Amino acid sequence: MLGVWGFMTSVANKTSTKRRLLLASDRSDQSSELASILRSVGQVDTIARPFDAQGILQRIRAAFPDSDGYDETDRGKVLNRGVEAAHAVMVKIFEKLPAGVPLKFSDIVEAENKILKAIKHSSLREWLTTVGCHHAGSYRHCLFVTGFAVAYAQHLGMRDDDQRRLARAALLHDVGKAFIPVDILDKPGPLTLEEMEEMRQHPRRGYDALAAQGGFPPEMLDVVLHHHEFLDGTGYPNGLNGKQISDIVRLTTIVDIYAALVEKRAYRLQFTHARALGMMEEMGDKLDQHLLHAFRPVAFGYY
Ligand SMILES: [Fe+2]
Ligand SMILES: [Fe+2]
Repeated sequence: MLGVWGFMTSVANKTSTKRRLLLASDRSDQSSELASILRSVGQVDTIARPFDAQGILQRIRAAFPDSDGYDETDRGKVLNRGVEAAHAVMVKIFEKLPAGVPLKFSDIVEAENKILKAIKHSSLREWLTTVGCHHAGSYRHCLFVTGFAVAYAQHLGMRDDDQRRLARAALLHDVGKAFIPVDILDKPGPLTLEEMEEMRQHPRRGYDALAAQGGFPPEMLDVVLHHHEFLDGTGYPNGLNGKQISDIVRLTTIVDIYAALVEKRAYRLQFTHARALGMMEEMGDKLDQHLLHAFRPVAFGYY
């Protein structure tokens, strides 16, 4: 016997711990007796001489796929559940709310678990690819913002509770667009001044609707009303500045603008990630540049 080399990994999930064993051995060792011993200890593959580095790497990768406890099938399911939950919130915001069906805070909270899990166990890239296929621009935008917000929160290592707060803020931030005519929202070209003025009413209309409904925490109302404010006082609707703008609003503003820039719009191509970040850096004092800097790895790495 010339030699047998083994690689073993353990994959744990909620219900069990699986062990995978890959052996590299000499062709001469492949006796039926050895083969049956190896199978009995959980062998999943055997590499025989002559060894080839690339071939060994491929076989190891195939035997030990990256996993945090979810196999590929689970990943797809978890992603789909998250996207479905987020989509259900969008339907409540953009279809039911304008038709007079009240939106409840619990509608948002119900969805957030599945969304957080989806992005944690798949990836931001997969989330964006899936929601990017949505035909309605406003849905697509809010789902993009939610994806970036959750990935950002996870990247910053926020506590679970804070991750949820940011996910809720992202889902809700443009609720006021439910009261803006679809002709303006989905116009396949730049808006006229009047249309722009109408569009700029959405933070106030969203705030008024949620405040009248009741049951929404003050910070959610803050995000809905102020996510277009700038730190230098040039934003709308209230021209707030500096310390008047809360952290959760600052974070939401960053992911909101970034998402808008990298989304496809009917009247322009999307900007690249580098260009979008560059444009936001050029906005200088309008945005919290420290928070923008912390967002860079999410933007570039599709965290
Ligand atoms: Fe907005
Ligand atoms: Fe937005």
